[in-house]
Amino acid sequence: MAQPPSNVRIFPDREAACRSLASELAGLIRTINSEGRNAVLGLATGNTPIPLYQELIRLHREEDVSFERVTTFNLDEYLGLGRDHPESYWTFMHRQLFDHVDIRAENIHIPSGDPDDIATHCAGYEQAIRDAGGIDFQLLGIGRTGHIGFNEPGSPSDSRTRCIELDPVTRQDAAPAFGGLDAVPTHAITMGCGTILEARRIGLLAFGEKKASIVREAIEGPVTPQVSASFLQKHPDATFYLDRPAAADL
Ligand code: GLP
Repeated sequence: MAQPPSNVRIFPDREAACRSLASELAGLIRTINSEGRNAVLGLATGNTPIPLYQELIRLHREEDVSFERVTTFNLDEYLGLGRDHPESYWTFMHRQLFDHVDIRAENIHIPSGDPDDIATHCAGYEQAIRDAGGIDFQLLGIGRTGHIGFNEPGSPSDSRTRCIELDPVTRQDAAPAFGGLDAVPTHAITMGCGTILEARRIGLLAFGEKKASIVREAIEGPVTPQVSASFLQKHPDATFYLDRPAAADL
C-alpha cells in the first residue's frame, strides 16, 4: 500500500482504533461542555461501534467522563419495530451504551420504528437536530453496499431523513440477528446523506477483511450515490478509522 490519504488512520486492531476515537470524543465532550453547551453526537449501530461504546463506558466509570451534557441523534431505525423489539436500534443503544452512562433520557434521539406519520416524524427529526445546534461529531459504520446510516445505493448527496427500502444485501447481513431473512424488516428510517454531511466532524469505523473492498471504493473510488460513503471524500473533516484487514485493499 502506498501512503494512505491523510483522512485515513490505520490501527493494529479494532480495540486500538476505538480507544483512539473514544479518547477524541471524551476530549470533544469536555471542550464543548466547557464552552457552556451540550456536545451533540450522531451515533451508529452495528457490531462495529460496540468496542467504542465499551471504551466510552470505561472512560465514564474510571475517568470521570460525563454524558450529562451530551445530546445524541442516532442514524436510523428499522421500520415496523417498536422500541421494545430485541433487534430495534432503541434496544441496541440502551443495552450497549445509554444504560451504562449518565446521559439524560430527554437528550437521546432515535428515529421511531413505528411513527404515526412517517413524513412528519422525519421532518421533526431534522428539526430536532437543528434545534440542538447541529451535530458536532457523527459516528458512522459502513454496510457492504457502501451505505452510511441506511442510505442504500441511489441515495443522493442532499437526501434528508426519510423512509428507505433496504437493499437485499443489507437484509441478508441482518438475517442471522433476526433468526432468518423473512423476519428482517424491508424498510427503515434513516438520516439522509445531506443530514449526515452537515455534521461538523465525521468518523467512520470499519473493521475486518469483509469491509476491505467497500472501504476501498468509499475512499479511492468515484464519488457516487451508488456508494453513499464516498460522499465523505467531499467533507472537510471526515476521518476513516480502520484496522489493518479493512485497509488491506487501499
Ligand atoms: C447497519 C447499520 C449501519 C451499519 C451497518 C454495518 O446497516 N444501519 O449503520 O454501519 O449495519 O454493520 P456492522 O457494523 O455490523 O458491520
